[in-house]
Amino acid sequence: MIMVELQQVSRRYGAVQALAPIDLQVRKGEFVTLLGPSGSGKTTLLNLIAGTVAPSTGRVLIRGEDVTHSPPSRRELGMVFQNYALMPHMTVFENIAFPLRVRRLPKPEIERKVREVLELIRLPDVAQRRPRELSGGQQQRVSLARCIVYNPALILLDEPLGALDKKLREHMQLEIRSLHAELGVTMLNVTHDQDEALTMSDRIVLMNEGRIEQQATPAQLYSAPVSVFAADFLGTANLIAGEVSEQSDGWVTLATQVGPLRARVPAAGASPGTRATLVVRPEAIDVVRGDTLPLADQVAVEGTLRDLIVLGSVLRYHVRTAGGQDFVAQQQNHRRHADMQRGMPVRLIWAAEDGQLLA
Ligand SMILES: Nc1ncnc2c1ncn2[C@@H]1O[C@H](COP(=O)(O)OP(=O)(O)O)[C@@H](O)[C@H]1O
Ligand SMILES: [Mg+2]
Repeated sequence: MIMVELQQVSRRYGAVQALAPIDLQVRKGEFVTLLGPSGSGKTTLLNLIAGTVAPSTGRVLIRGEDVTHSPPSRRELGMVFQNYALMPHMTVFENIAFPLRVRRLPKPEIERKVREVLELIRLPDVAQRRPRELSGGQQQRVSLARCIVYNPALILLDEPLGALDKKLREHMQLEIRSLHAELGVTMLNVTHDQDEALTMSDRIVLMNEGRIEQQATPAQLYSAPVSVFAADFLGTANLIAGEVSEQSDGWVTLATQVGPLRARVPAAGASPGTRATLVVRPEAIDVVRGDTLPLADQVAVEGTLRDLIVLGSVLRYHVRTAGGQDFVAQQQNHRRHADMQRGMPVRLIWAAEDGQLLA
């Protein structure tokens, strides 16, 4: 079942096209993240679904019903924002009970539900405190509780963890994720943080300048980006620009500043003469001594080791070629790097299979 459907929905603010006409479907029970840089239209898209912004064109359907012209209160969804928007003069109990009071539930039922939801967010003992007597993470949990207490089938989250420090943010990501699984609720989350999107989502909708660049599972988006923007936004990517010089048997050779490089023919094809970019992820690249020869199915590039950084369990190599192209390679940290010195000539080697060509 489809929970949310956007049909050619767009939004313009004067001369600014905040959102180009887009189509999007969110299935019931799915956790979808809108990911993209600041200004890419994420909040606009979320607000169009919430009903706080009206579309310039198109239709918004929730549970199959056309709600394009319905006010937010009629859409039966919950919203959680970065600034917790808790009412400071009310206790935690009163804050969470508020949406139930608005819905005129009987008092004993309100008490039971608030207690249940405080258990669920693992803050059973703070009911009588005021928001300012809680930490940022606790306040964010309370605002989440206030949203889930009336069981909305759809929850929209706009950078809900943006104000928290890294440790707490990571912890909350997992908590929201398990709440999502426990409640079976549909969640649509907005973030500019790729790690958050990768951690939490069933599906990521990558946005760029008011358009959907790509939508895919986290694993697909990382391993098969459809554009340089997508490859570069998610994770680290070595990007090598060039021109296709030949194509045969499913392989192409790309003439680049660092020499000819082999890669698989992309799905879209690539005829000789076309400009293309080769994407190689850092973990696909092995850094070896300059006198090590590549195997037949490998691609090799020569350079100088500029830096070798130990990031706990991983090692990161920074290598520059004679022509000035910088590469990043990343490997598990083990003892083999002991003979690697800054300034020494090295070879970057990757399986031709691991390079991805984008036209
Ligand atoms: N109320 C508004 N008035 C004018 N321009 C707006 C308004 N809201 C958003 N925009 C513009 O629309 C674009 C997308 O904004 P937004 O959806 O907030 O992006 P994001 O949430 O991805 O950072 C931006 O260029 C922004 O300046
Ligand atoms: Mg925003």
